[in-house]
Amino acid sequence: MDRIRIRGGNALNGTIPISGAKNAALPLMIASLLTDDTLTLENVPHLADVEQLIRILGNHGVDYTVSGKRLATQPSSGRTIHFTARTIVDTTAPYELVSKMRASFWVIGPLLARCHKARVSLPGGCAIGTRPVDLFIEGLQALGATIDIDAGYIVAEAKGGLVGNRYTFPKVSVGATHVLMMAASLAKGQTVIENAAREPEVADLAACLNAMGAKISGAGTATITIDGVSALSGARHRVLPDRIETGTYAMAVAMTGGDVTLEGTHSGLLQTALTALGDAGAEITDTANGMRIVRNGGGIRPVDVVTDPFPGFPTDLQAQFMALMTRSDGVSHITETIFENRFMHVQELARLGAKISLSGQMARVEGVPRLVGAPVMATDLRASVSLVIAGLVAEGETLVNRVYHLDRGFERLEEKLGACGAEVERISG
Ligand code: UD1
Repeated sequence: MDRIRIRGGNALNGTIPISGAKNAALPLMIASLLTDDTLTLENVPHLADVEQLIRILGNHGVDYTVSGKRLATQPSSGRTIHFTARTIVDTTAPYELVSKMRASFWVIGPLLARCHKARVSLPGGCAIGTRPVDLFIEGLQALGATIDIDAGYIVAEAKGGLVGNRYTFPKVSVGATHVLMMAASLAKGQTVIENAAREPEVADLAACLNAMGAKISGAGTATITIDGVSALSGARHRVLPDRIETGTYAMAVAMTGGDVTLEGTHSGLLQTALTALGDAGAEITDTANGMRIVRNGGGIRPVDVVTDPFPGFPTDLQAQFMALMTRSDGVSHITETIFENRFMHVQELARLGAKISLSGQMARVEGVPRLVGAPVMATDLRASVSLVIAGLVAEGETLVNRVYHLDRGFERLEEKLGACGAEVERISG
């Protein structure tokens, strides 16, 4: 298993290209199931999760081709991939595949909409909490699906097709909003989703579906209206920039100090997180094609944050912000409201010398003047990268184990940081 070795202490200076968003690419790829025509996605990141979803979609009958060769001069540019689900050959998503990747559960929406039936394994537990699927079930039932649970599978059927309806989510869910929006695109009549997730990835999926011929308005707000159409066509769509990758590198620069331009992204995607970073002492300015983040001289100020659905502070940046706060000049409080068990990084940060105490959903972080490198490991993607951020300032060597978590969501992390002066290397095997 690969590991990442970091020698802390270097400031970051230079330019980091931001990849296409994993959390947008996955639902966009799943949307290819909705049409027998070709959906072309540009700026698809090279990530383990993308490769895994390609395999899962292949099981349902989706063929794919990758355009052209990867240019040696532009190794960072995302791929253009063509997805074609000419015929759906299987409406079952088996446990072996869904349990590997939670987002693959989302195929239930398109399969039900296009084939009027789907048999999808329950995803099961997950390292960051129980992550139930009740909202998906309720939403699809509102569109007329009958749903049974049989031997660990959700068996969904909509004889004669889904029918539009009004549905109010009792709780904001990004995944369930994606699924309901895809399902309603091919339902008969109008669907109105209230208390929808407002994440930029939801708006990106709606833009793609509209390019495919769907009639969706309001995506990006709490009320989404979808007028069902009888069929969708192919389209070409560019995956939006990854706001979590953007925020992660911005936090890394705030941690080490330095001056870095993040290219191909924009501040509107993560305003709340950038405001917190500004309060902590980083200077952030928009540039023509991205943003510049600078921290010179001054220390890191303590800032309290509470995770919330968009436009709140993203749960996917909570661990990284905590890493930053371990070096602040005082005490900060970080509250996690989305997942009940998303503090696995705390014990590992403590191994580097961080002082963090937990009380329920809140972490109290007392800044320390120094961290010291150590071997660490993490059990999820965002927790792993928080250890990288801490390692960038820890004295001596930090060895991050289980790098496969990082590879699920960060494209060429060691190269991107290395190009800005960090001493980071991947140790294979
Ligand atoms: C969530 C995050 C998303 C992040 C992703 C991966 C939010 C609102 N969502 O998205 O930003 O990228 O994790 O870390 O911040 N829930 C139910 N029943 C359901 C579905 C969800 O109770 O049927 C709960 C979840 O357990 C969670 C909350 O609703 O507490 C939000 O879940 P949801 O947005 O669906 O999770 P993801 O789509 O995984």
